[in-house]
Amino acid sequence: MKIRAAILHEIGAAPPYASTQPLKIETLDLDAPGESEILVQIKAAGLCHSDLSVISGDRPRPAPMALGHEAAGIVVETGAGVHDLEVGDHVVLVFVPSCGGCVPCAEGRPALCEPGAQSNLAGELLNGGRRLHLNGSEVHHHLGVSAFADHAVVSRRSAIKIDKTLPFVEAALFGCAVITGAGAVFNTARVKAGSSVAVIGLGGVGLNALIAAHAAGARAIIAVDLRDDKLAFARELGATQIFNARNPDCADEIRNATRGGVDYAFEMAGSLPALELAWTITRRGGETVTAGLPHPDKRLSIPPVQLVGEERTLKGSYLGSCVPLRDIPVYIELYRAGRLPVNKLMSGLAPLDEINGAFDRLAAGETIRQIITF
Ligand SMILES: NC(=O)c1ccc[n+]([C@@H]2O[C@H](COP(=O)([O-])OP(=O)(O)OC[C@H]3O[C@@H](n4cnc5c(N)ncnc54)[C@H](O)[C@@H]3O)[C@@H](O)[C@H]2O)c1
Ligand SMILES: [Zn+2]
Ligand SMILES: [Zn+2]
Repeated sequence: MKIRAAILHEIGAAPPYASTQPLKIETLDLDAPGESEILVQIKAAGLCHSDLSVISGDRPRPAPMALGHEAAGIVVETGAGVHDLEVGDHVVLVFVPSCGGCVPCAEGRPALCEPGAQSNLAGELLNGGRRLHLNGSEVHHHLGVSAFADHAVVSRRSAIKIDKTLPFVEAALFGCAVITGAGAVFNTARVKAGSSVAVIGLGGVGLNALIAAHAAGARAIIAVDLRDDKLAFARELGATQIFNARNPDCADEIRNATRGGVDYAFEMAGSLPALELAWTITRRGGETVTAGLPHPDKRLSIPPVQLVGEERTLKGSYLGSCVPLRDIPVYIELYRAGRLPVNKLMSGLAPLDEINGAFDRLAAGETIRQIITF
């Protein structure tokens, strides 16, 4: 079938993207779903910094690529062997397909699925190969999803069925921002009630971590960003103290305010200085968790003697260490109970044709989650 999709032909275009137009809206040929695949009509797709990092070159991927990895839609066709989803089902798409049969999958860590990671890196679907074609040439899939498009063929193992009464624009957020941010708190760190938390980087991912820390019963929630408007908003969402990282004394001030640092510091900015700050403001015996994805050439330098002598922990968090089949329905339930107000993190809707300008706003830090609707 013919679809309209946002295609990145070259990595590393200079901003402003509204002028350089790195994403072109093109008409592509999309194959029918193969074995254990589904065709999804995309209804809403969020803009995540990880898409922006592919555009800028901070997260190198093969081009041309159809971007977009945070989305929700309706199943309109099922491929051979798909018996547990029906046409008309509503799904959230997940940016790591999990095969169910590799060692990490067997250990209950589908975010680390090995075939899933390989197909994502190659810009293919889990079964191998690409279903997208532009003028006869293959186009790469982004994280098995490629959702800045009116339709997508994805692996069955990239989709989680959800309740049909949840609006698509809200559902989309659960595919990346919510599971990454809330999952880092609930799964990676397992934040204890009564503990102290810092969140550095208050975008879609960081603010989800912040509201999850609030839901988990953290007694102190320190919010850190470079922008005062984000800090003021974090206060409304439950931050107990706010600090601007542009202040050179920020680390000392946080350590003083928390009597030596927080139990858990979350780096959610995707920047090395933010990770260094997270490490510095973690208390003796505390945990530093990072979900940020800076350029692969970046290196963190920490003194091993501090790691040992202070029994510190440094943890990476991918897909919020989630089991999407278990966690997405639970986080939706928390949302509906008013305990995870993810709807407050939406910064407006945009049509596909305005996607380049929307990425300018994300790059400027002006927005949290903008949603493309179809
Ligand atoms: N680990 C995962 O599974 C996963 C999933 C999604 C996104 N990510 C990554 O998480 C990061 C955040 O994504 P997002 O979509 O929320 O981004 P975003 O652009 O919406 O938010 C980033 C925020 O960090 C702030 N910031 C930047 N540098 C800072 C610094 N030095 N100190 C304090 N704040 C700073 C910005 O002002 C902005 O508010 C990105 O690196 C993204 O690639 C990881
Ligand atoms: Zn994302
Ligand atoms: Zn697997």
